[in-house]
Amino acid sequence: MAEVRVGVLGGSGFTGGELLRLLALHPRVEVVFATSREYAGRPIHSAHPHLRGFYEGLRYSRIESVDLGSVDVLFNALPHGAGINYTSEAYDRGVTIVDLSADYRLKDASLYESVYGFKHPRPDLLEKAVYALPEIHGEELRGARLAAAPGCNATAAILAAAPLAASGLIDLDMGIVVDVKAGSSEGGSKPSKSNHHSLREGSARPYSPWGHRHAWEARQELSRLAGKPVKLSLVPHAVSMVRGAFASVHGWLVDGKGFNDVARAYASFYSGKRFVRVKPLAPGIPGDPPDVKNVIGSEFAEIGYSVEVEVGRVSGFAAIDNLVRGAAGQGVQAMNLMLGWPEGEGLMIPPLRP
Ligand SMILES: NC(=O)c1ccc[n+]([C@@H]2O[C@H](COP(=O)([O-])OP(=O)(O)OC[C@H]3O[C@@H](n4cnc5c(N)ncnc54)[C@H](OP(=O)(O)O)[C@@H]3O)[C@@H](O)[C@H]2O)c1
Repeated sequence: MAEVRVGVLGGSGFTGGELLRLLALHPRVEVVFATSREYAGRPIHSAHPHLRGFYEGLRYSRIESVDLGSVDVLFNALPHGAGINYTSEAYDRGVTIVDLSADYRLKDASLYESVYGFKHPRPDLLEKAVYALPEIHGEELRGARLAAAPGCNATAAILAAAPLAASGLIDLDMGIVVDVKAGSSEGGSKPSKSNHHSLREGSARPYSPWGHRHAWEARQELSRLAGKPVKLSLVPHAVSMVRGAFASVHGWLVDGKGFNDVARAYASFYSGKRFVRVKPLAPGIPGDPPDVKNVIGSEFAEIGYSVEVEVGRVSGFAAIDNLVRGAAGQGVQAMNLMLGWPEGEGLMIPPLRP
């Protein structure tokens, strides 16, 4: 008998499918509804053939027909803005919300108009929402009722840069430059001219180089860690992968600091963090670099760092699976923490390789 009843808004998309894959093996939950307009009335495997046999008896519902108050936990995997009326209503009815969209990530309500194109209807909930990056906000998630799961590019960027921002080792006035390589599944399940895989295979190109939305949440979180505003620029690149996001973040060491200081900062920041693997990169240090190939299908993040002594450049690197650590898995980890369960419940899945 499951302990909690779970509903999924947007259960036919890529992140909704990942949620259903992970929740199928979670020992404490039962998924009682998943919504879709296109697949309403049809079984889960009609949208996700790989899940055939796991949700026999469950059919997609239209979002208007579900009783939001009938579940203990509601996951939102709809495009930004599309679910906000449902999640806010469910929150008011006492349901625990894990939102995988951008709807509750930014603390400054006024940014929603310029960054996401809508006026936020519930600024009161932005104050209550916890930005659900467990390595930074794990304690705040315990007992919280509204989790805003970070964006995939932002997750990789923040994980790579957090020890640098928090330690005072870099010159924050010089800023942080983030370069992300992203797989085509970031664009969701409906192909468009920019994310159709036929047009991405063999391609490498930037998108939104004038300022990506995820930069706002990365600035918010790294400024909080640094205790002062962090000037950060983030440019994602579409590359030939289906899954994966790889962030390289570059900054400049303050005078007198070097590789050993950076190594101490990463080791101490991620000490005891279950889903992080830290990898120093320097001549003479054995080991592999962080690689999306080592984390696909899992909640693990591989994080590396290096120093180019001659010019004082320090870099942090993070490899994640955008659909697991960058979305559904991080949402499940947040739920575990919110409900007081072991953090890794249902998530101790080794990555796929090759
Ligand atoms: N893809 C990623 O790597 C990633 C990572 C982190 C966060 N996210 C966030 O997760 C959310 C979902 O992304 P995704 O990649 O899974 O997109 P997706 O594959 O396009 O899925 C979107 C889901 O929402 C439903 N939907 C779309 N428009 C709707 C509307 N107006 N009203 C009701 N339902 C609607 C779709 O089903 P029907 O069309 O059948 O209704 C589908 O189930 C987004 O907010 C995205 O930013 C995505």
